Amino acid sequence: MLLDLVFYWFFEVPGMAGVKDTAFQKCINPDCKAEFDCGQSLFKCPQCGDLLDIVYNWGKIELPAKISDFADRWATRDNRLDFSGVWRFRELLSFCGDEYKVSIGEGQTILQQNSGLARALGINPDRLFLQYEGLNPSGSFKDNGMTAAFSHATMVGAKSSACASTGNTSASMALYAHSCGLKCTVFIGSGRIAFGKLSQSMDYGGHTIQIAGDFDDCMRQVQDVCSQLGIYLVNSLNPFRLEGQKTIMFRIIEQMGWQVPDWIIAPGGNLGNSSAFGKAFMELKELGLINKVPRLAVINATGASTLTDLVNDKGLRWNDGKVDQSIIDAYYADLTAKNFSPSTCASAIEISRPVNLKKCLRSLDFCNGVVLAVTDEEIVDAKAQIGSHGLGCEPASAATIAGLKHLLADGVIERDETIACVLTGHQLKDPDVTVNYHKDKQGQFSNPPVEVANDLDEIIRMMRS
Ligand code: F0G
Repeated sequence: MLLDLVFYWFFEVPGMAGVKDTAFQKCINPDCKAEFDCGQSLFKCPQCGDLLDIVYNWGKIELPAKISDFADRWATRDNRLDFSGVWRFRELLSFCGDEYKVSIGEGQTILQQNSGLARALGINPDRLFLQYEGLNPSGSFKDNGMTAAFSHATMVGAKSSACASTGNTSASMALYAHSCGLKCTVFIGSGRIAFGKLSQSMDYGGHTIQIAGDFDDCMRQVQDVCSQLGIYLVNSLNPFRLEGQKTIMFRIIEQMGWQVPDWIIAPGGNLGNSSAFGKAFMELKELGLINKVPRLAVINATGASTLTDLVNDKGLRWNDGKVDQSIIDAYYADLTAKNFSPSTCASAIEISRPVNLKKCLRSLDFCNGVVLAVTDEEIVDAKAQIGSHGLGCEPASAATIAGLKHLLADGVIERDETIACVLTGHQLKDPDVTVNYHKDKQGQFSNPPVEVANDLDEIIRMMRS
């Protein structure tokens, strides 16, 4: 049964010979460690059902002598792969030939040093950085992963793609599917998706199926649908997608003058980012391209706090890959018994069964990480604060700054440490939350419009007051 569900096609890919030696897929379970060719399209280990990694034969890849050598690619930006903020680091995600690589100019994102926000938080004004992934073509960090997943989909000759989504994955999938001619189907939970995001996938021609359930229900259904119909799954269970998301870390290092910050802070939903970020640092360290590993903070919303509960309350750890499954099973059984459905205004991270949980535990282990959960009130306040200091973002992204406040107050992060927060999605993704916060004066940073009569004297009087 398991084998049928997770193994949905395998064929030899023409032109694969060149990359075949450089990368392969490998089960993360230390008792399994099964290996598979990159020409196979899998999203779980066909032998044990655990997660798969992409592993590289580094000796067969021509790598730069030092990480700053990637800067040379800026001079050759007329080459589409050098222009891409993902593929200009292509040696570090060398799983397919250049002819299959799909790019729509993703990863042109900025690391903004935000001294105003740093001062407001009482930290050294030189040390706070915001990595704004909202600048991607579909407005979220997902494009980093989607360019990688669709390159692999093209390599294996996929004709149709699908995902479950809280919105951003669907927008990104629909954009990339459109640009490489694949069909795409989006599974969303009814009432669980911000309209800005849904408008994108509809506009890009995605086939949208609304399920009477939440994201976790959609995630479960889409896996079975993909297995039975031979559709290419682009959720972050897909190990190729996470390879693209590693580059967010490469760009942070690049924009810090090839230095590694003390802290990376990211929101936690399905835990693909945190998984990819840890893998990025594991590989850079193994290759001797960095000396220092940053600490990682993953921030949940209190209404969707599986990771926080399991790590902080239940003591779940990576434990060299021997993760105590009984703790996870008991936690999920309890959620089911309570008929629990997660709930947060940060709909992007409204997830209670994160598929990349184990890989995230590995990242936390490698990066000496911490996790915590923040309330919706803290999220919307932090969002308005970020906005007032010059960069908008969607609610899930603001969980980073809300979490940072706790970590500073608890003395986990020192005021002189260098901190890079990943703002995962654009402000316009979820305008409803923003408008309601300001208009209904929901928090201390609300900035509602002031009403005045259509009269010049009245307007002048109001402006002088
Ligand atoms: N931030 C934003 C803006 C997101 O859209 C998501 C996930 C996350 C954070 C969480 O990232 O899963 O890597 O921990 N959105 C998915 C979606 C689930 O379907 O768009 P993660």
